[in-house]
Order: sequence, then structure tokens, then C-alpha cells
Amino acid sequence: MKILVTGGAGYIASHTNVLLLEKGYEVVALDNLCNSCEESIKRVEELTGKKIKFYKGDCRDKTLLRKIFSENKIDAVIHFAGLKAVGESCKKPLLYYDNNLNSNMALASVMSEFDCKKLVFSSSATVYGTPKSLPLTEKCLLGVTEEYPLGVTNPYGATKLMGEQMFRDFYAADKEWNIMLLRYFNPVGAHESGRIGEDPKGIPNNLMPYVSQVAVGKLDCLSVFGDDYPTPDGTGVRDYIHVVDLAEAHIKAVEHIDGCGVAVYNIGTGTGYSVLDMVKAFEKACGHKIPYKICPRRSGDVPACYANCDKAAKELGFTAVRNLDDMCRDLWKWQSLNPNGYNN
Ligand code: NAD
Ligand code: WQD
Repeated sequence: MKILVTGGAGYIASHTNVLLLEKGYEVVALDNLCNSCEESIKRVEELTGKKIKFYKGDCRDKTLLRKIFSENKIDAVIHFAGLKAVGESCKKPLLYYDNNLNSNMALASVMSEFDCKKLVFSSSATVYGTPKSLPLTEKCLLGVTEEYPLGVTNPYGATKLMGEQMFRDFYAADKEWNIMLLRYFNPVGAHESGRIGEDPKGIPNNLMPYVSQVAVGKLDCLSVFGDDYPTPDGTGVRDYIHVVDLAEAHIKAVEHIDGCGVAVYNIGTGTGYSVLDMVKAFEKACGHKIPYKICPRRSGDVPACYANCDKAAKELGFTAVRNLDDMCRDLWKWQSLNPNGYNN
């Protein structure tokens, strides 16, 4: 079976590609490398001893998509390509709507032309906006307010929510589609080899890449955004999932895609950990203290967010198996072996 992986050089895609290749799928990857580099593709090939057919280009480019579908008999698409920085999306909403939504449209249109109608889409827990109750089930949408009539609290989240809606509408108009909408919670960690991992450009926005860069000495001190939330230790609580578990969820999604119609799944662990829980776990993994200071809350953050994962367990047979120590151990291995990411 041949899978087109858009955003195929990125963080989650590279871990998914390893599993796909190990399980005997053929991988065709498309990426414009706006947030990644080709070295990740090479390392996946090196880890698996298998080849990826790589196209450098933009997912909005229908001419390129037609070339890819003409040159390869694609059975299904895993659509990771997208911009994902919440803060940047507030400053450059047009960039996000253009990139993320036009990618969806160009891809779906060319898939239709070539009669390839199996799609796994990277959605996000961000579609839940501010949770009204926890844990979040797939039905927990939406906390609509006058300021946020879609329920999501930033343009990035809006592109994911609208993306889901687009794909639902495509299915409603053409029941031959089979579409899995996967709502990831907080992916962290790296492949156990330490050869592939997350390589954020510039100063990381997300907690664990920041913590690991403090641990390796690239950054001085972690800012903990708020210690006055209504959580056990006052810091924000999230559902962190090992990226290899998340990659496994994509394999399960592909295995269960025939006849799924449109199906939506939370992909998390079901357990919430606080910022300080994460710092402590990472200190254990790296063997030294992580300097941190308590700072004001970050605008737009919710106090707590974690998943009810029963639906994915029941219908896809997917349950995350890696724990917090595994996440921190593997992230530390990646960070300490590659202090400058892929640019070593
Ligand atoms: P990533 O930035 O590492 O991967 C995305 C890849 O898409 C990058 O390699 C980038 O170069 C590529 N890309 C972006 N726009 C493109 C375009 N127009 N054409 C071709 N390639 C393009 O991010 P990731 O963490 O691996 O995320 C993958 C997907 O999962 C994204 O859609 C993201 O929104 C979603 N997601 C991520 C998280 C997270 O916390 N990492 C959580 C929920 C959902
Ligand atoms: C986690 C916790 C912060 C950085 C984001 C997106 C979401 C999804 C995953 C794509 C929070 C705290 C963070 C720091 C801190 N991505 N923190 N100091 O905000 O849960 O989710 O990534 O879909 O859409 O919003 O993740 O890692 O940024 O933050 O104290 O330097 O860590 O306040 O409580 P978040 P995060």
C-alpha cells in the first residue's frame, strides 16, 4: 500500500514514516520544508533501511499534486502539512488561513480527480477551545462566546476546526470518501534511537522543547506561565503523548479507514500532568536541575486540557503505552545527541 504523507519531513510525520516503512507501506512524502529539513527524511531512511520518494514543494500547488498522483498510485493520504504556531497565527492570520485551508482544498480536489478518497487529517485538541468539562470527549465542542463564535481561541485553531468541517462536507457530498480526523493532544518525545525528533526553528514555543534546550544549556531558564491556575500545583495541566505512540495511532487509523465515513478521535493518553510535573520528570531523565521562574500566565492558555481516549481504544484499538519517563528519556536522548537539531 502506498501512502502520500504531506508535511512528510516534519516532527510527527518523520516518526510516522518510520512505522509505516517498518510495517511494509511505501511512503511518498511532500514537504515545502518551511518548518523542517530534508535531513529528517534521510535519517528515517537510515533508521529503516528503506527509501522514501520525496517531493519538495507546496501542498497548495495542484500542478505538483497532479504530478505526484500521476507518478505514484497513491492508496491513502496522511495530511500533516500545516503551520502550527498559535502565537504566530494571531499575528499572521492570513498566512495561516491561506496555508492550512488552501492545502486542504488543493489536496482534496486532486485526490478526488485521481479517485483516491482515503484521508487521515491532523487535527488538534485546540479545536475544543476552553474546555467546559474534563476529560474531553469527541463531543465536547464548543465553548462559543461573542468574541470566539467558532469556540476556538486563535486562528490556528480555527484552521483546524474549519479543516474538519471541510472534510465533513466533502464526505456529505460524496460518500466514497473515508476520512479520519485525529485530534492530537500534546505530542512530545522522540524516537528511541535519538536520530529523529522535534527541531523547532528559533526559540521554542512549546514547553518540552524549551525544557530540553534549558537542560542542554542552549537556554538559561524556563519561564513557567502561571502558578495560580485551579490545578493541583497551580500550573497548567496537559495531556502529553509520546510521539511514537501518536505515530502508532496513524497506523491504526490507516488500518481502520475502509468504510469509516468520517470519524473523529482524540489521540492522547487520558492523563493530565502539570508544568512542574514535566519539569521534575525531565530533571530525573537528564540528571540535573532545570532552572525555572514563575511568570505571569500566557494569554490564551487554558488551565487544564486532557482527553477521554475511549473512542480510539474501542474503535481503532489504539491506546498509548509510553509513560512520562519514556517521553523524557527519549527527548533527552534526541536533545543531547543533537543539541542543534538536524544541523549538527
Ligand atoms: P511540523 O511543523 O514539524 O510539520 C509540519 C510540516 O508541514 C513541516 O515539515 C512543514 O515544512 C510542512 N508544511 C507546512 N505547510 C506546508 C505546505 N503548504 N506545503 C508543504 N508542506 C508544508 O509540525 P508537527 O508537529 O509535525 O505537526 C504536524 C501536523 O499536526 C500539523 O498539521 C499540526 O498542525 C498538527 N498538530 C500538531 C501538534 C503539535 O503539538 N505538534 C498538535 C496537534 C496537531
Ligand atoms: C503546555 C503548558 C503552558 C511553554 C499547543 C497548542 C496546541 C497543540 C499543542 C497544535 C501550558 C506551559 C509552555 C513555556 C510554560 N498544537 N508553558 N512555559 O499550549 O498546551 O498546546 O501545542 O495543535 O494547539 O496550543 O502546549 O507546550 O505550549 O504548553 O509554562 O515556555 O506549558 O502555559 O500550560 P499547549 P505548550
